[in-house]
Amino acid sequence: MRIGINTGGGDAPGLNAVIHAVVLSAHHRGWEVYGIQTGYAGLLDTRRTVRLTPSHVESIVDRGGTILGTTNRADPFRFPVRGPSGEVTFTDLSDEVVRNFHALGLDALVAVGGDGSMDLAARFAAKGIPVIGVPKTIDNDLADTNYSFGFDTAVSTATDAVDKLHSTASAHQRVFVVEVMGRYVGWIALHTGLTGSADVILLPEVPFDLEYVCAKILANERRGKSYGIIVAAEGARHVGGQLTTRAQTTVGRQEPLLGGIADWVAREVGQRTGKESRALVLGHLQRGGSPTTFDRLVALRYGAAAVRFLAEGKRNVLVAYQPPEGMVPVPLEGAASRRKMVPVDSDTIRTCRELGISLGDAPPLE
Ligand code: F6P
Repeated sequence: MRIGINTGGGDAPGLNAVIHAVVLSAHHRGWEVYGIQTGYAGLLDTRRTVRLTPSHVESIVDRGGTILGTTNRADPFRFPVRGPSGEVTFTDLSDEVVRNFHALGLDALVAVGGDGSMDLAARFAAKGIPVIGVPKTIDNDLADTNYSFGFDTAVSTATDAVDKLHSTASAHQRVFVVEVMGRYVGWIALHTGLTGSADVILLPEVPFDLEYVCAKILANERRGKSYGIIVAAEGARHVGGQLTTRAQTTVGRQEPLLGGIADWVAREVGQRTGKESRALVLGHLQRGGSPTTFDRLVALRYGAAAVRFLAEGKRNVLVAYQPPEGMVPVPLEGAASRRKMVPVDSDTIRTCRELGISLGDAPPLE
């Protein structure tokens, strides 16, 4: 067997651990592994496909990023091509990808990525590339899998930042609104807000009302707490409001660029409560750094399972983490569109409410 591996979409801590596990478990079966660089771009220019041996993946389990590089703006079905005067047109180069895959003598592709990459993987599977998908996203939003690696590291980074804000917020009697990633779901905000002792958590799943947010800050003040921490998911929105987005800066990126909710909330809270309020956007810090032990463990298990499933003859499946069974194969087709939102009646949400953390949708507990 000769297998290719690529990493697509935004990076997530743990990608290198997956690559490590794929290379070693394939090697121990006598298979060869080829690293395809920068998503599918390495299959448009085959010089960017390199043989990976165990020595290439030594000492990378603890490294953030991906040794293969990644992109979220090189969809081969709609590939951006810049003309001589700078204008961009989109061309379907998917047949070239399939041709090059076969020309390299590859038998299967391990595609590691988020929903966009899984959608591409399913489309290439339909065009005859045998694929095993490995879900990656700090957002933890793929429905088929209980947990995607990178999430734990992102939450640890965000919680560490919130922990540090408490002392300065308290010293200046300020309100801080911390914007965290997560796209259309609130997993990072929920876990960060709860473990970082936020006063208010704003989630896409629970549209908020500024009146209740301000009421919580003022209720705290009445009982002697002069500062406030609000953790806002980038996809959070006011009741009846829209997602907050920023202007696209990248050609070929098809998803809207979320961001700006913290600025808006800080401004409104400042005006309505009279308290000095500041916004802090954690941004890509959440994707950087060394993966936590938990993310390494899960990522290694994903990588080994991908190769195990290939050895068992499985094709066009996604490796899904479904405890207590562990890693199980689920159909790749449609995996990208099955989104995992935070259940609004979950135990974690109930815990927030019971602890008096406001979700901005009801009067505060006094
Ligand atoms: O999907 C992962 C993620 O980090 C989201 O949380 C965020 O909205 C998006 O990617 C940011 O993408 P980019 O790196 O293109 O700014």
